Amino acid sequence: IPAVPGYPAPTDHTQQAYDPEDDFTSRWTRADARQLKAMSDPTAPSRENSMPEEFTMPTIPQDFPDMSNGQVWVWDTWTLTEGNADQPSFKGWEVIFSLVADRNLGFDDRHTYARLGYFFRKAGIPAEERPENGGWTYGGLVFPDGASGAIFEDQSFSHQTEWSGSTRIFDGNKLRIFYTAVAFYRDAAGQDIKPADPRIVQSEGRIFADENGVWMTGFRDQHELLVPDGTYYQTKDQNPFVNFRDPFTFEDPAHPGKTFMVFEGNTGGVRDQVECTAEDLGYRPEDLQGENPLGEVPVGEGVPGGPPEIPADANLRMGNVGLAVADNKALTEWHFLPPILSANCVTDQTERPQIYIKDGKYYIFTISHRSTFAPGIDGPEGVYGFVGDGVRSDFQPVNRGSGLALGSPSNLNFAVGFPFAPDFNQHPGQFQAYSHYVMPDGLVQSFIDTIGTSEDFRRGGTLAPTVRVNIDGDDVTVDREYGDNGLGAYADIPANTVWPVPDTP
Ligand code: FRU
Repeated sequence: IPAVPGYPAPTDHTQQAYDPEDDFTSRWTRADARQLKAMSDPTAPSRENSMPEEFTMPTIPQDFPDMSNGQVWVWDTWTLTEGNADQPSFKGWEVIFSLVADRNLGFDDRHTYARLGYFFRKAGIPAEERPENGGWTYGGLVFPDGASGAIFEDQSFSHQTEWSGSTRIFDGNKLRIFYTAVAFYRDAAGQDIKPADPRIVQSEGRIFADENGVWMTGFRDQHELLVPDGTYYQTKDQNPFVNFRDPFTFEDPAHPGKTFMVFEGNTGGVRDQVECTAEDLGYRPEDLQGENPLGEVPVGEGVPGGPPEIPADANLRMGNVGLAVADNKALTEWHFLPPILSANCVTDQTERPQIYIKDGKYYIFTISHRSTFAPGIDGPEGVYGFVGDGVRSDFQPVNRGSGLALGSPSNLNFAVGFPFAPDFNQHPGQFQAYSHYVMPDGLVQSFIDTIGTSEDFRRGGTLAPTVRVNIDGDDVTVDREYGDNGLGAYADIPANTVWPVPDTP
């Protein structure tokens, strides 16, 4: 991929597959991630999108409906899945799982009160025949009160939450929910007394349905699966702000009989003591638009206008996509493998990663906020994609080497602001959607965070319109033929098969 004038060339990635057990971690380099700014229009005026339309989610109107009819805030959401990420309906019902919180809380206070809830609706009804808000019935919380807090030895937590994960259905009506249990230890002023303690946990239950709806039982026993090891995955003691969460399990047709998990992690090591390496930067040695690792002899030394050192504090942003493999059939015992992707000095958060297999290619899709990019890197809120030949590959970031698969409309010429205080110059859609999850046939669901400009915005807490992306090699583009100029129905999460999934002949 050639360089855009004024920008470095992205790093070469072969897409070559490695054994899942191998010690090879592909890098989303700074050279790659600087392609995000390279594709932004420097002349885009205030409140307009500066990013290419083909990678931008269509703008969501501000008068969106609420899928829970005012019952709960809703954000990260996933479906029932089986091993290859098909989304079956169960006895004629579509079933989804969402993080939910009480609507009496401010939307930004939701994280420390999150619980797992579920919704259901009749399968097989075309989107245009459903109510505008998607027609879901809120089924309530999934876990009994207190169940997810029981795993913490230190019960002195002030808050204890259930964060994202995934749900698999097994023989008959057995469900295994993989999720993140987090304990917070805070004082009355909301300051951490001890660092938050995130753990990846599994719980087993049963799903039932009759003509009136869906219900679940079980989910009392919680199996702790993984806590960071400090080598591949940073611990809370190495970094009190560590990101360790969002398990997604899957089977790989290339390695039958094994179950893998991807999750959000940070690179192991004490925060601020691990430096960005030349490999994390990924520049070609002769690239005068490059940067140099801190404290190393600049490559372009003596060349007027030669490469500077990377900005200070870039090494505080050390996201990775972790990999683990199950050691038993009940999926209660797991061990870590090296991360499959690192975003050292690019972004701190590679959230809700998933593996998506299409046309023999393996995609990692993962979400990042604009605000978690490292100094010197900028890109929109959205979903980022990486393609390779196997679960562990030298992954190629999609779309001009940048990684951006689908971003919210944003203007990178202006400051980011906050969902609760959008920047005056930002596009009204900058925070319109987050937590994108790519489903079969390229459908993408996400939740609405904030829509509008600084003087007139509305918080979401409900699912966005579903959109569709065309996924073709390392090109991922918005399908504007889908729905209304690219925007499908709100909260539209269709099953693509039935349970039990029929055997393919
Ligand atoms: C993404 C996310 C997840 C996390 C949850 C917490 O929106 O940050 O990574 O599990 O939200 O609310």
